[in-house]
Amino acid sequence: MNNTQPMRALITGITGQDGSYLTELLLEKGYEVHGLVRRSSTFNTDRIDHLYVDPHTPGARLKLHFADLTDASRLVTLIDTIQPHEVYNLAAQSHVRVSFDEPEYTGDTTGLGTIRLLEAIRAAGSDARFYQASSSEMFGATPPPQNEETPFYPRSPYGAAKVYSYWITKNYREAYGVFASNGILFNHESPRRGDTFVTRKITRAVARIAAGQQSELFMGNLDAVRDWGYAPEYVEAMWRMLQHDEPDDFVVATGTSYTVRDFLELSFGHVGLDYRDYVRFDERYLRPTEVDALIGDFGKAQDRLGWTPKVLTPRLAQIMVEADQAALEVEGSRYVDAVQTA
Ligand code: NAP
Ligand code: GDD
Repeated sequence: MNNTQPMRALITGITGQDGSYLTELLLEKGYEVHGLVRRSSTFNTDRIDHLYVDPHTPGARLKLHFADLTDASRLVTLIDTIQPHEVYNLAAQSHVRVSFDEPEYTGDTTGLGTIRLLEAIRAAGSDARFYQASSSEMFGATPPPQNEETPFYPRSPYGAAKVYSYWITKNYREAYGVFASNGILFNHESPRRGDTFVTRKITRAVARIAAGQQSELFMGNLDAVRDWGYAPEYVEAMWRMLQHDEPDDFVVATGTSYTVRDFLELSFGHVGLDYRDYVRFDERYLRPTEVDALIGDFGKAQDRLGWTPKVLTPRLAQIMVEADQAALEVEGSRYVDAVQTA
């Protein structure tokens, strides 16, 4: 990078949890960041509004473009005009439970979206480095610990779509020499996590219950084991993968394991409450097939990228509960229990 020509990155999924943290990281590093945003009738840019400046402002380095991963020709145009040095494909229908309700749409975005983007890179003759947001959900039913050699056994339309994207990313590396890497990321959370993922659903409820605004929390399977890390640390690993001297695939995880019940205990415990007094079972939150246990071995990322996790699950729960309590004080309640199947 030099002073006149900043590095240019294109991020799909820039409005999501990871997209927002990655944008912060890349702007701090001096990148010009281009983000793909879906047109919607209400604004969907909450997570990046604090980073946005009017594009007419001299030196503005965050630029947003309307596009969708289902629109191949638009992706070609964007790659051709932006000429990015790095492309981070974070966009997806990312909710596992929802993928059972919307399997075809999930396949179209989470699976075929990746080939559309890779084809756009190839069609434009771009030599951009490509990051694919692969997932520990690909391991599915294969027991832990899981590493880069562990066989995939997806248990949802989402997991199956991610397996397709993983392999097509590898194929474009081998077939066309694209610098294309898979980050196989285990669950990572933050105060910006979507409201219907289990950690955020719990920490939002804890804040509301502690404030006397909610009395019950309906949950599904409390026995599932997850390896929960902290999202801002995980986007650093994404960036490091594209700075590595060769494209490769890396597991990013903490190597620790907690059940959903443990996360409930940690979060309610933080405000001095016993989760058993509030949590109720609702079968609508079960999945037709469950992923019982995910625990990642991040040794390769540690050795080759120098990446290690610092925030582990107990501290993560504390960060999220405190953030939700602070948000509640500022904005009041905006929890909507309308999305009943998530
Ligand atoms: P997220 O918060 O759900 O964000 C998903 C992003 O994708 C949003 O910006 C969303 O836009 C966008 N998107 C969805 N469908 C799209 C489409 N058809 N065209 C264009 N954009 C679309 O997900 P995240 O937690 O940041 O995760 C980022 C990526 O990593 C995802 O691919 C996810 O599957 C994967 N992953 C996540 C984890 C995790 O634990 N967080 C672990 C492993 C892998 P809107 O804002 O308009 O909805
Ligand atoms: N969402 C949700 N809501 N999950 C619940 C609930 C509930 O009420 N009750 C129990 N769970 C259990 C789920 O059955 C699952 O075993 C676990 O909590 C975690 O669910 P989620 O937080 O929805 O995440 P996920 O593990 O299914 O998927 C996330 O992590 C993947 C990486 O392993 C998503 O971020 C995926 O996009 C990501 O790839």
